Amino acid sequence: MSLSLDDARRLDGADPLRGFRDRFVLPDGVIYLDGNSLGALPATTAARLGSAVTEEWGQGLIRSWNSHDWIGAPARVGAKIARMIGADPHEVVVADSTSVNLFKLIVAAVRRQTGRGVIVSEPGNFPTDLYVAQGASALLDGVSLRVRPADQIIEEIDADVALVMLTHVHYKTGARHDMAAITARAHEKGALILWDLSHSAGAVEVDLNAAGADLAVGCGYKYLNGGPGAPAFLFVAERLQAALQSPLTGWMGHAEPFQFGDDYRPAPGVARFLCGTPSVLALLALEVGVDLFNEASMATVSEKSQRLCSMFIDLVEDRCAGFGLQLVTPRDPAVRGSHVSFAHPDSYPIMQAMIERGVIGDFRAPDVLRCGFTPLYVGYEDVWRAVEIIHDILASGAWRDERFRTRSRVT
Ligand SMILES: Cc1ncc(COP(=O)(O)O)c(C=O)c1O
Repeated sequence: MSLSLDDARRLDGADPLRGFRDRFVLPDGVIYLDGNSLGALPATTAARLGSAVTEEWGQGLIRSWNSHDWIGAPARVGAKIARMIGADPHEVVVADSTSVNLFKLIVAAVRRQTGRGVIVSEPGNFPTDLYVAQGASALLDGVSLRVRPADQIIEEIDADVALVMLTHVHYKTGARHDMAAITARAHEKGALILWDLSHSAGAVEVDLNAAGADLAVGCGYKYLNGGPGAPAFLFVAERLQAALQSPLTGWMGHAEPFQFGDDYRPAPGVARFLCGTPSVLALLALEVGVDLFNEASMATVSEKSQRLCSMFIDLVEDRCAGFGLQLVTPRDPAVRGSHVSFAHPDSYPIMQAMIERGVIGDFRAPDVLRCGFTPLYVGYEDVWRAVEIIHDILASGAWRDERFRTRSRVT
């Protein structure tokens, strides 16, 4: 028998993260299950941006680069993210987008691996990862991208492989790779490894240095709650920093940008992977989201994520049996992230009907209903209520209304 509403309320009452919910702005009547795509707005972001605009920009003007340490923001916010992903503070910077960071790190890594011409990834990886790897391969002589299903990746890594590039938690299925095992295999064969942590950072426990990882990237606008289009982060293990060169040799990655010399000389550490002037307002918004994690251990966050996801799976399979939903996400919490996906041939209109009833998840082509469980602001009662609404939509056939079939540009 699955959990009752009273059980869910009891779990909320005992939840050590319960207090975080009030630290976010969430509209009344909304159960937000899309924080894995765009995190919710932290309650203090608007005021922080207000003071950054009116005081720091308006009054401080250009002086604020120094007086408010705008110039230090990429490294400062990077150091805060480092704590959440098992990295040292000087191994992470915030810069650009995940796509651009992928490009910089792929090219840097492959160029260092002389005599090896293969980048290994998996089919169905997030499109930008594959597209950027394709674009980078086309620029690099004799380099090609080889995609193999997740369960064949380990065997695929041989002496030709320069770089293994994988997304730790799969954006659609929610399946999580064994970071330590794949990293160890890559190193055994002399390959480097690059992890995309977009669906991991702020959701599951990640220990890059314990796994011996080389490189990583991730989004700032998902579980880190940095806002739409927030800048991304990148990680380069300390031991590799001096050996890798960014292909985007912008002045912010120069050793002495304010010497204004004619020749590029990379900054000594991970800062060499900065490129142009950082987007300061976006960085300061991201910092608010990241700072919320100062007060929560990733172990607690990850434990709650596992429970929320398990509860959702159990309740959907119990309450919505017979309506054609097929679980796509692994049942075992140890090998999944913080979102759960079900396949259904009509998942698009079903998700639109859910959104109209206030349960916001998303649709991922061709047939996936995806719901993200953000431990800082989703509670157990939310999960229970969401499943009741899904049941109602399926049982009544409300989703069959024509208006739910109109596709929007963003799904
Ligand atoms: C695994 C993964 N990588 C990258 C991205 C997006 O990269 P960008 O922020 O450059 O658009 C996403 C977005 O959902 C993602 O899921």
